[in-house]
Amino acid sequence: MHVFGLIGNPVGHSLSPPMHEAAYRELDMDAKYVTFEPDPDAVAAAIEGAAALGIDGLNVTIPFKQDVLSLVDPDPLAARIGAVNTVDFSTSPPRGYNTDAAGVRRAFDHHGVGLSGTDAVVVGAGGAARAVAFTLADACERVHVANRTVEKADALAADVRADADATVTAGGLDTLADRVPTADVLVNATSVGMESDETPVPATLLHGDLAVLDAVYAPVETRLLRDAAAAGATTVDGAWMLLFQGVVAFERWTGRDAPVEAMNDALRSHLG
Ligand code: ATR
Repeated sequence: MHVFGLIGNPVGHSLSPPMHEAAYRELDMDAKYVTFEPDPDAVAAAIEGAAALGIDGLNVTIPFKQDVLSLVDPDPLAARIGAVNTVDFSTSPPRGYNTDAAGVRRAFDHHGVGLSGTDAVVVGAGGAARAVAFTLADACERVHVANRTVEKADALAADVRADADATVTAGGLDTLADRVPTADVLVNATSVGMESDETPVPATLLHGDLAVLDAVYAPVETRLLRDAAAAGATTVDGAWMLLFQGVVAFERWTGRDAPVEAMNDALRSHLG
């Protein structure tokens, strides 16, 4: 029996268990996916305990993604981002990955959106935006970070710029008016639109040559994505990002191709 799981606090509403269990069923694997909610001061003990118990792999979510970085051997991208969301216990010390970042790329790939040579805009400068911005800076030609709090956009852009080939700029939300009309790729990595019908990007800026990814997945169809579709843009909803971080984690842990369709069906049936 293989045991995988998730540590975070809280983890009660996580969609990872049904998504991963669907993969095990599809591939007829003898495996379980379990959620754990350690106290915030017990995360080091939890990682050590998981290794000692022979747990195969753990996803990591809020508030532990940064803490876990120093408890594992992070791959270079996770180290640059400063956050780990997937731990593989098959080595000692366990290896840490950031599949939120890899998932962004796979979500675009899946929709036929190539990032090479593109001009990208990331809205937001929090934890989600950090994984997105580092990923885009590895693939795109230009990345602009726009955030309500300009200082946070500047700080994120400076971190990303330090070891990226892309040209990285930053500004407030007012800079969207300059950047979005000429952009190829737009990612909303703010929480705007979550459980509300708001958008961080005025609809008038959107256009048909844009690919828009919204990291918000509740609701799946956000106002930003509706506006983007109406403007003729390619749209990628937040469930794809959630799906592909899970797909990449599964593939790291098992070395097998993930059954993407079965995982997607399970995820979307739980999202309603
Ligand atoms: P996460 O880990 O999900 O990225 P976070 O670190 O709290 O969460 O970041 C939330 C992001 O959404 C931030 O970029 C935040 O902007 P600020 O840095 O200015 O706080 C952005 N955000 C949240 N509510 C917003 C709103 N009403 N308008 C614009 N941006 C908002």
